[in-house]
Amino acid sequence: MADDLVGKAANPPGPVTLTVCLTCRREGADPEGARPGAILHAALAEAGMPEGVRLRGVECLSSCKRGCAVALVGGEERWTYVYGDLDPDQHVPEILEGAAAYAATADGVVPWRERPQTFRKQSVARIPPAKFFSEE
Ligand code: FES
Repeated sequence: MADDLVGKAANPPGPVTLTVCLTCRREGADPEGARPGAILHAALAEAGMPEGVRLRGVECLSSCKRGCAVALVGGEERWTYVYGDLDPDQHVPEILEGAAAYAATADGVVPWRERPQTFRKQSVARIPPAKFFSEE
């Protein structure tokens, strides 16, 4: 990737949405209890979003075998990222850290060393922004 596509923006291009799957399950979770996805969403809501990040819940991100799953979406100019295998009891601080770093970028690409460990190792997919043009 070209260096000019990576980095922080002086004026980030609009708000970021952290979307959490409310219906995700996790191996070992009580099948009669609250869904781990809903627990993760509630924990994030209670913690509060970083500046420029809003939270929403949806039913299924098509990453069911990697639950809990979240997506970071940042408008037409940022890449979208989906992360999985998230644990509501362990990963809330790293999700918030990663969302804040993402919101500070122009293109959604946080330099590798600045990503929380969870985001380095548990990425499910990344999707190019609407304004992305391939050179091929
Ligand atoms: S149920 Fe969570 S991604 Fe499908």
